[in-house]
Amino acid sequence: MRKISTVTVVGSQWGDEGKGKITDFLAERADVIVRYQGGPNAGHTVVVGEETYKLHHLPSGILYRGKICILGNGMVLDPLTLQTELQELKKRGVFPERLFISDRAHLIMSYHKALDELEERERKGAQIGTTRRGIGPAYVDKVFRIGLRCGDLLDEEELKKKIREILLVKNRIFKNLYDHPGFSVEEIENEYFPVFQQLRPYVKDTSVLLDGEIQKGARVLFEGAQGTMLDIDHGTYPFVTSSNPIASCASTGAGVGPEIVANALGITKAYTTRVGEGPFPTELNNKVGEHIREKGREYGTTTGRPRRTGWLDGVALKAACRINGFRSLAITLLDVLSGLDEVCIATAYRCGDTVLEHFPAQLHILEKCTPVYRVFKGWQANIAGAKTLEDLPIEAVDYLRGLEEILQVKISLVSVGPRRDQTIVLSDIF
Ligand code: IMP
Repeated sequence: MRKISTVTVVGSQWGDEGKGKITDFLAERADVIVRYQGGPNAGHTVVVGEETYKLHHLPSGILYRGKICILGNGMVLDPLTLQTELQELKKRGVFPERLFISDRAHLIMSYHKALDELEERERKGAQIGTTRRGIGPAYVDKVFRIGLRCGDLLDEEELKKKIREILLVKNRIFKNLYDHPGFSVEEIENEYFPVFQQLRPYVKDTSVLLDGEIQKGARVLFEGAQGTMLDIDHGTYPFVTSSNPIASCASTGAGVGPEIVANALGITKAYTTRVGEGPFPTELNNKVGEHIREKGREYGTTTGRPRRTGWLDGVALKAACRINGFRSLAITLLDVLSGLDEVCIATAYRCGDTVLEHFPAQLHILEKCTPVYRVFKGWQANIAGAKTLEDLPIEAVDYLRGLEEILQVKISLVSVGPRRDQTIVLSDIF
């Protein structure tokens, strides 16, 4: 076997860490880019020259010619959104000739989106704040073993039979639990079959394809969506997504062995944000929080919702480093912190009389936690043009070094703006 040359890009916080920019930057050096979980709940903004692209299913690598892009088996795909995304790209001259969709990836159908909406409404005061994209209900069907998979698109008669069987189950839920008329087979066929036909050529056994590329020595980038704190196992349950964004799950979600995904890079925003509900110990409901929201343009790519903002949470990050085994970190949006008198990193939580060093599993404990901060001097200079660490104000460097010390993980990249060239490289990633 050849030398393995891969990187697994994972969000270390609650998503929206700027993974799109970093994966786009690294994709230039990769031959294959693979998404391994989640679906159109993700949203990447990638700026190339004067053009801004908003991607949901497609990995950022799609914007480079000749790269192989894979939507892995761990994903849930909304065929209608995916089709729109592909059309948008084609309109702007980007043709995904080398896109492949796993025959084992699951499909999000209209009944999943309707259920996401109805279930959230039913939760009344205890909403999760999902993206309403049908992600949770599609993963539920996967685990309940009544999901439709992309491989099912390859045989229309079998597909029709499956849809009929699934709707028998789903419609009982719609009618009995939600007083909703449910969905007819004809409705589903009319809405989806023309799109299925267009997606069919992309469907492949992507595990075999990927293995072949790795054997040939290809550089592979595994692109995680959402973030560690939204992981169904390790995140702030139940305010989490329904998949595993963490690095080890790139192995399950792409169909490769664990050693292939071990070079994990944690994407870490220089502060913290969160969309949707759930506890957030370092949240700033004040002028600093607003400064961060406005300067960082912290509004959801997928839903447009304003994001909640706060100081960097070193306790949550320590957990993310441990769970993912990050070999290094990419710090994004450092420029957003310019102009503040001081900047803070939480190093522990105080909960009543006890000091917690580790992120607790129980939300009722987390809700009572207040952060213990290490305070750093702020900096005023505009750092958007910095090309090396030496170009940064000493206070910004101290902040980065302080973070490395708290987490015991080195920083390999620092991003100071949305463009590809606004990236300071401290060490090689692949
Ligand atoms: P779902 O993934 O739509 O089921 O939403 C579950 C939770 O994950 C909600 O709090 C969402 O706001 C959050 N979430 C899902 N995708 C993203 C993302 O890409 N960035 C940030 N938060 C996300």
